[in-house]
Amino acid sequence: MAKKKYDFSEVLISQKEIENRVAELGEQISRDYEGKELLLIGILKGSVIFMADLMRAIRLDLEMDFMSVSSYGGATSSSGVVRILKDLDEDIRGKNVLIVEDIIDTGLTLAYIKEYLEKRGPDSLRIVTLLDKPARRKVALEVDYVGFEVEDKFIVGYGLDIDQKYRNLPYVSWIRED
Ligand code: IMP
Ligand code: MG
Repeated sequence: MAKKKYDFSEVLISQKEIENRVAELGEQISRDYEGKELLLIGILKGSVIFMADLMRAIRLDLEMDFMSVSSYGGATSSSGVVRILKDLDEDIRGKNVLIVEDIIDTGLTLAYIKEYLEKRGPDSLRIVTLLDKPARRKVALEVDYVGFEVEDKFIVGYGLDIDQKYRNLPYVSWIRED
């Protein structure tokens, strides 16, 4: 059987557009949390590239931590039940927590994580996502900072993968399956 090939040649969001938007988000977050300390929590692995760029655009004292989760059920659609593969290293009680995500699709993963973290008594808990695919939302979820809204396409690049590949593309593309 021939190896499945993906076409990811179309640039949906260019490197420059991402760079500009990340700078804007960093500026907005710096203003909103002025005088406070921040804890960024990246959801592995997709958020890694965005996290690395965003944190350097924020002018605050900040710490970072990571969580790794996997959703039970089908490979393509989230079931809403999330298994924690890697939990946080540090306590978040009394901290200003900002969850950093690559893309919000159904919203089920973040709805679960948000409720899970809320129970641990942070001072505040917000969400920043590079991409938002609102057409696919299954649960109401308040998203505080959004980089770009995208159409209902399968997105790769700048941290996002298909079969764990293409996370290193410096731009955001989408997969055309032929
Ligand atoms: P949700 O629970 O449906 O919101 O799923 C969110 C997670 O699914 C994201 O953190 C991604 O890891 C993955 N995901 C959703 N849509 C895409 C996509 O278009 N490309 C790559 N990963 C995606
Ligand atoms: Mg993810």
